[in-house]
Amino acid sequence: MSALLEVRRLAKQFGGLSAVEDVSFAVETGEIVGLIGPNGAGKTTLFEMASGFQRPTRGEIWFDGTRIDRLSTPAICARGLARTFQIVRPFGDMTVLDNVIVGAFMRAPSPKMARAHAATILAQVHLAGRCDQVARTLTLADRKRLEMAKALATGPKLVLLDEVMAGLTRVETDEIMEIVRALPRAGVTILMVEHNMHAVMGLSDRVIVIHHGRKIGEGSPAQIAENPAVVAAYLGGRDDADA
Ligand SMILES: Nc1ncnc2c1ncn2[C@@H]1O[C@H](COP(=O)(O)OP(=O)(O)OP(=O)(O)O)[C@@H](O)[C@H]1O
Ligand SMILES: [Mg+2]
Repeated sequence: MSALLEVRRLAKQFGGLSAVEDVSFAVETGEIVGLIGPNGAGKTTLFEMASGFQRPTRGEIWFDGTRIDRLSTPAICARGLARTFQIVRPFGDMTVLDNVIVGAFMRAPSPKMARAHAATILAQVHLAGRCDQVARTLTLADRKRLEMAKALATGPKLVLLDEVMAGLTRVETDEIMEIVRALPRAGVTILMVEHNMHAVMGLSDRVIVIHHGRKIGEGSPAQIAENPAVVAAYLGGRDDADA
């Protein structure tokens, strides 16, 4: 069976800076895969390319049997690949429900059905009680959940989560972990960038490590925790289990 997402020898240069260099990996349907690496490693740039916000300099991205690295963001989203943004981007003056309805229109044939679908998604991320609240008045934890809901509302097969737990307390993190853990059973595969090791190690079936734009390790959370190159580049240098 071919992978849901396959990245082949991907590279991205910004002028003289090589942000991503010769990275290859695959994500299979039903997996939760963690993507980790120090600040500036190229993680968000990988997401930008996979979601059509940046064009690769070299390499290919295949999703669900189609080459997507030359497609537009809406075309990629329509095929079932959605992302969240590291810096959350709600439509601030709109209500929580209306923010999610925007995504739901990707598949819903009528406003009524978009509204119903958005309400279901908000329940899935434990935001049902905040439907009528204006988005900019939400707490950070709720804004992160709204960011997830906006992506999930588009009906994705794969969601790229970019640091949805950054800045949250342990209790808030655990709640989002519970939401993420349930997604594969609902038909949503996950590739997530996360600095929070408690979350990455607790959730991931597999972890991919990048450093200075290159892949330096890949394996189960236990294998990654013991990989000397990974420990030297990343894990040994920080203690941010609750970051
Ligand atoms: N649009 C851009 N133009 C120029 N340089 C960029 C651009 N986007 C990212 N970079 C550079 O590419 C490198 C990788 O950045 P990226 O945002 O992908 O890192 P990251 O792994 O997501 O880091 P963090 O953990 O801090 O979010 C960095 O040196 C960054 O400054
Ligand atoms: Mg980033």
